[in-house]
Amino acid sequence: MKAVAIRQPGRELCLLDIDLPEIKPDEVLVKTIATGVCSTDRELLTYLDLVPPPGASFLVIGHEAVGRVAQVGAAVSQVATGDLVVPTVRRGCRRCPFCKAGRSDLCRTGRYTERGILGLHGFMSEFFVEKETNVVKIPPELGELAVLLEPLSVGLKAIIESLKVQEARLGRAAAAAGHAMFSSALIVGGGSLGLLSSLVLLQHSTQATVVDLDETNGVKASVARALGARYIRLDDYRRGIEVDCGRLRRDGGAMDCDLLIDTSGDPATYSQLSELVAPNGIIVLLGLPDGHKHRRVGIHHFITSLVMQNKVILGSVNASREHFERGIPYLAPPRRKFEDTVGALITHTLPFARYREAFDIGPRDRVKVVLDWR
Ligand code: BGC
Ligand code: ZN
Repeated sequence: MKAVAIRQPGRELCLLDIDLPEIKPDEVLVKTIATGVCSTDRELLTYLDLVPPPGASFLVIGHEAVGRVAQVGAAVSQVATGDLVVPTVRRGCRRCPFCKAGRSDLCRTGRYTERGILGLHGFMSEFFVEKETNVVKIPPELGELAVLLEPLSVGLKAIIESLKVQEARLGRAAAAAGHAMFSSALIVGGGSLGLLSSLVLLQHSTQATVVDLDETNGVKASVARALGARYIRLDDYRRGIEVDCGRLRRDGGAMDCDLLIDTSGDPATYSQLSELVAPNGIIVLLGLPDGHKHRRVGIHHFITSLVMQNKVILGSVNASREHFERGIPYLAPPRRKFEDTVGALITHTLPFARYREAFDIGPRDRVKVVLDWR
């Protein structure tokens, strides 16, 4: 079968003929329908460490996929031939409490592998094999749109985590003041991750504003607006790298948001935009700085470690009566949270044999580029 891979030496993007793997009793054989191209794939072609599976001189890439089950192993019970499925990406270390509890996204040891990214072949191939426990059954009506599920899951996780943090610290007071948890959000970067995160927020009635460098008549802007988000072209508010937040705030109306999600990875931009985050707001970083792997010191290194290791940073000042009261026992121990518009996110679909063109589509022309494997 054909597969899109990056071959060593020289990080050559190529179409290979590889063997169709046989399935074990707990595995399923999936006929690939579509795979998405992600910035991580582009980074693997340039500067990320390329880690093929042990003994291999190439890595089949692709971690965003949807397919149809073609064959099931003898012990498979949750999925059947013909089912539409989306595979997850990360395989845990099997040792740490988080991986053991099914939260390999929070792996403590760093000894995880990721399909199509790190140590395991990915899904850009005519078929793939996976354990039934690593595939998610998809309602048939979703069809190939399900290729967006993986990047959506990344944005959704970030939103859920930030909600948990905010509920834990502001819940009671926010409820008393009659505030919805995220009434407005600023999303930095109008790529698929930014737009899918906006999609999630908009469905929870959060006002979403997407900022990006691209023109207001560009593809990102039109998808953002179709989803119901406001789009602002950051370049209209910048002189060099300096962002005029005052003007942005005046033109954008009451822009102060209680959630900022960065998908750009550009610290100079979002650190300035953080001025538009309301008091007690939360800032979530999802983007990695450009070329991050080669900068082992300074802000790039700091941000990469925050993002790649799910770390939390929180600003804090002063303490109130509640904290005084809660502190007492420590001193005196008593006893001890659209179909057309969603489809618009997929700006290009190309047959897999045109994989090179797919990788050549520039950032201003694309949101999600998809390879068709049927
Ligand atoms: C993928 C994640 C993965 C991350 C880091 C992203 O592009 O969507 O699943 O964990 O890259 O490798
Ligand atoms: Zn990705």
